[in-house]
Amino acid sequence: MGGEDMTAECYVITGKQRLAGAIRVSGAKNSSLPLMAAALLAEGNSVLWDIPDLADITQMRQVLENLGCRVYLHKDGSWQINAGTVSGFEVDERLMRSMRASNLILGPLVARCGQARIALPGGCAIGSRPMDQHLKGLRDMGVEIKESHGFIEAYAARLQGADIYLDVPSVGATENLMMAAVLARGTTFIHNAAREPEIVDLQNFLNKMGARVRGAGLDVIRIDGVECVHPAEHTVIPDRIEAGTHMVAAVMTQGDIELENVIPEHLEPVIAKLRQIGAMVQVEDDRVRVWHRGTIHPVDIKTMPYPGFPTDMQPQFMSLLSCAEGTSVITETIFENRFQHVDELRRMGANIKAEGRVAVIRGTEKLEGSFVETTDLRAGAALFLAALSAEDVTVLEKVTHIDRGYENLLEKYQALGAKVKRVAHGQA
Ligand code: EPZ
Repeated sequence: MGGEDMTAECYVITGKQRLAGAIRVSGAKNSSLPLMAAALLAEGNSVLWDIPDLADITQMRQVLENLGCRVYLHKDGSWQINAGTVSGFEVDERLMRSMRASNLILGPLVARCGQARIALPGGCAIGSRPMDQHLKGLRDMGVEIKESHGFIEAYAARLQGADIYLDVPSVGATENLMMAAVLARGTTFIHNAAREPEIVDLQNFLNKMGARVRGAGLDVIRIDGVECVHPAEHTVIPDRIEAGTHMVAAVMTQGDIELENVIPEHLEPVIAKLRQIGAMVQVEDDRVRVWHRGTIHPVDIKTMPYPGFPTDMQPQFMSLLSCAEGTSVITETIFENRFQHVDELRRMGANIKAEGRVAVIRGTEKLEGSFVETTDLRAGAALFLAALSAEDVTVLEKVTHIDRGYENLLEKYQALGAKVKRVAHGQA
């Protein structure tokens, strides 16, 4: 990935560098993954543009190749996915357990091939990550599901349209069930559907393939099943979480960053909070500029399903609020264990007390460089941001977690003036 030495697992970051300049936001990881899975529905070659070069994308490519697809990065920069020759219906357990989003092939695969076998994705650092809503909806559509020995087996000669009511607005379950319903006989309604922008992006790609999906972005999605769909071409939406991360970097380093390739409406909850904190945010068509000087005001944050404040921005805001003048409260309502970054931030001098899903952050004047460890993708991003604003030098270990969700992070930040380098473990 980017030619970097993959044994290099640490960032060495010299703090207190004001970041300034412009960077282009990459395509969205959390849209790319379902779009790649959706290509399974059609015989032939689908073309996806602006897919980011990330470890998770490489994993999804391996899953699709494992199923008999031909997947390659064309010299023009597009990803070409030929699912004409889907020969398998089982996903390698190692691949499944290393990336939860591999479960997104379940719906399209059982719809296309009539069967699928995947390992139950293990839990991860931020929570148990069950799949009960995915399976509930598939059963509603007549899929026979067997769970045994840590595997899920799904069988259906032809899925039937159904009225599905999700107990929680699960992003992955909504995506899996949308894709499964595309080839079902009859009409499917998904009630209490997730409303994230990535769901809308998936609807747009599916409809380009000849599917009939309506309502994405609202809480009821209607899918009128069709006999078959054809390959299509699509450009993935920009990554709103990458963009939000860079916006926090501008505020934490008292800098001035202009982001290119953003959809501002996807960032509304983040922009509102940054303005509440005292940052300046200038919004244009597909660009956002963020700059800040002086005090960071404390704010309270409660993560919610879209269009609420995104859980994937919670760790980054905890770093930011660790430097606020006053006390903030963060409530994490989506995942039961998404405060792994708290202990590491404390090692940098942050004053945070977390009980269950609530963290109380008493802002401190400065953070101190330290040795800290990345436990998961967004926790790593939070610690990276904290290190950029801290006194002295920070060694951030296990940065391969960050490689999963941020394309060319080092290059982008070096171009903004950050003093950061990547070294092998133990050489820092
Ligand atoms: C997607 O995960 C994202 N990943 C996550 O981003 C994001 O944090 C999450 O949505 C919430 O926005 C991708 O899109 C690849 P969920 P997903 O199903 O689909 C519970 C990142 O950092 N639930 O919406 O797995 C679940 O336990 C990642 O980029 C069930 O109870 O999330 C959680 O509490 C992290 N049963 C809540 O719903 C189910 O069957 C939200 O999970 C499914 C989920």
